[in-house]
Amino acid sequence: MSDKKLSTGLVHTAYTPPANFGSLTTPIHHASTVTFPNVAAMRARDWRRDDQYSYGLTATPTTYTLQNRIAEIEGGRHTLLTPSGLSAIALVDLALLRAGDEVLLPDNVYNPSRELGDSMLRDFGISARYYDPLAGLHVADMIAPNTRLMWIEAPGSVSMEIPDIPALVKVAKAHAVITAIDNTWSAGVMLRPFDLGIDISMQALTKYQSGGSDVLMGAVTTVEASLHEELKQTHNRLGLGVGPDDAYLMLRSLPTLEVRLRRHEESAMVLARWLKERPEVNLLLHPASPDCPGHEFWERDFHGAGGLFSVTFQPDITQAKIDAMVDALQLFQIGFSWGGAASLAVPYTMKGARSAVPWEAGGLVRFYVGLEHPADLIADLEQAFTLAFA
Ligand SMILES: Cc1ncc(COP(=O)(O)O)c(C=O)c1O
Repeated sequence: MSDKKLSTGLVHTAYTPPANFGSLTTPIHHASTVTFPNVAAMRARDWRRDDQYSYGLTATPTTYTLQNRIAEIEGGRHTLLTPSGLSAIALVDLALLRAGDEVLLPDNVYNPSRELGDSMLRDFGISARYYDPLAGLHVADMIAPNTRLMWIEAPGSVSMEIPDIPALVKVAKAHAVITAIDNTWSAGVMLRPFDLGIDISMQALTKYQSGGSDVLMGAVTTVEASLHEELKQTHNRLGLGVGPDDAYLMLRSLPTLEVRLRRHEESAMVLARWLKERPEVNLLLHPASPDCPGHEFWERDFHGAGGLFSVTFQPDITQAKIDAMVDALQLFQIGFSWGGAASLAVPYTMKGARSAVPWEAGGLVRFYVGLEHPADLIADLEQAFTLAFA
């Protein structure tokens, strides 16, 4: 028993867990305040070191473990975690762009990234311009003296077009433009961005890494230490830390990431083939399908396809009928995002996904194929097609 008064005993405990306590999980370290053994250690803290703990906002052993694992999976060296995928995009923009700079975004970019470019960045004196994601080497025509950053999205998460990444990187490098990829679709597993010369890989861990449709988180991964430090300084200034419980949920899901991805991919292929046979369907915008613009780049650069793809419908099928088909689905839920166990369907328009639509397109539905049995999902599609289109 301690000889301290109750109020002191309520605050302090003498017990520390043994260093050799064995468990297969990562401990959840909750911390705002992080204590130092002495004043000299407090004064010697160095924000550049990712494994130095000085305040819970910047790192705990739980978040440090997760950031290392994400960097390792993606083939990078450094990862910063942010509270959402969108804040990871904003972190890259705000860290690297200054008044007078220009950022190039693909025309089919994740829409909130476009909104950031057209609103806040513009207000800060930064201009955002949009390039054809299929421009390849012709993107050189878009480079201006003040172009500092080029975003790549592969594939575009609604239109599914796959860019020629090495060509875009070649042009960017020739003009000293930094490249950043939104690598969310591939989960950092099916595309190795640093092997293709990309400088920064951003992901919404919200999707496949979480796998539970229940956590929001983003990651920004780099190889080069100086770029990481530039990003980290802004990360610190904006206070973009993540909580240890969310980091733990990610760590808990990571071991099954590859198995889940393969299952999503196999089931999605079954459904994609079924959809392609339907007379109502025009284009199968699945990267593994020759219908999909840039399919040859997917074959060359990617190692898989996961569960997310789109289809366009014949131009004579009205939006109302497409909406009715989606409403009639029973297993597929209507909702944004992807990566969880439940299948999802969302109607979009190509005009919403892209300002310049490169081909004749009817309405579009994006499907995310979850972990249900594909035969049940096909039965669900079949009854919804019959109800809406018969
Ligand atoms: C391609 C892509 N990037 C980034 C994000 C943003 O992720 P979050 O929802 O975690 O902000 C999303 C979310 O839907 C996305 O689809």
